[in-house]
Amino acid sequence: MTELVRLERRASIAVVTLDRPERMNALSWASVQRLGEIGRELAQDSTLRVCVLTGAGDKAFCAGADLKERQGMSRSQVREMLSAYRSELGWLSNSDFVSVAAINGVALGGGLELALTCDLRSCTELALLGLPETGLGIIPGAGGTQRLARLIGVSRALDLTLTQRRISAAEALSLGIVNRVFPEADSVLESTLKWLEPVAQGAPIAQRGALLSVRAAQHSSLEAGLDLEREMYDRCLDSADRDEALRALAEKRKPQFQGK
Ligand code: COA
Repeated sequence: MTELVRLERRASIAVVTLDRPERMNALSWASVQRLGEIGRELAQDSTLRVCVLTGAGDKAFCAGADLKERQGMSRSQVREMLSAYRSELGWLSNSDFVSVAAINGVALGGGLELALTCDLRSCTELALLGLPETGLGIIPGAGGTQRLARLIGVSRALDLTLTQRRISAAEALSLGIVNRVFPEADSVLESTLKWLEPVAQGAPIAQRGALLSVRAAQHSSLEAGLDLEREMYDRCLDSADRDEALRALAEKRKPQFQGK
């Protein structure tokens, strides 16, 4: 049996690849469960700094829900699937490492929602993104209405959700849906890994503190967010890595961070 989702380690980086190119890497029940398993496995590893999620082949990152499977599902199975999106994919927003979607082609419906669950997004210049659900008589059900509105604002999120239009990489960049667009001739995965080198090689306590503090801005009050920022700063201040960074600066060399 072919693997639905592949997991590969590259030092402190995990690469997770949706691997059903014949179905445009669409999300089946089994692939959502496998993503959940991968999330639980990665949560055990405190050395992990970055997780890149991408799709196999050069056409699709993910074409959303597996519509062929969906045709044979009962309404209660679909409800279970909606719960599974939340329980099995939520780790992409909640882990101690940075998650990044490297969008290698179309990201439609649940595919775009999956990318929105990640902390960051990159794509190839030919990528197409969209939320076609309302045209299918449903709404985005994997967090898309909430995450897109928080990311780009209610008005822009309504435009994309209600009109179902597919947007180009350039528009996605201008809206702030993706952080980086890479030339089609380059591998979006390799370009993304290069872009994130400073994260993978940076001071672990500082990287984690910045990640958790900025993420908190999405849901906490300003006062609570400022408290968290202070707590995270204090952790950095007490770390050996902070002293090492100052020493390295004075000695004009690269710091050697130990995560302590
Ligand atoms: N679920 C299951 N299979 C899918 C799929 C999906 N979401 N999207 C594409 N596929 C399958 C197609 O059925 C086709 O398989 P087949 O040849 O065995 O029928 C194969 O992937 C290739 O798709 P095809 O449409 O021929 O390729 P394309 O390059 O012309 O178009 C897409 C690609 C992704 C733009 C187009 O398939 C599409 O719009 N898919 C539906 C996306 C969608 O609405 N997702 C939201 C779900 S809520």
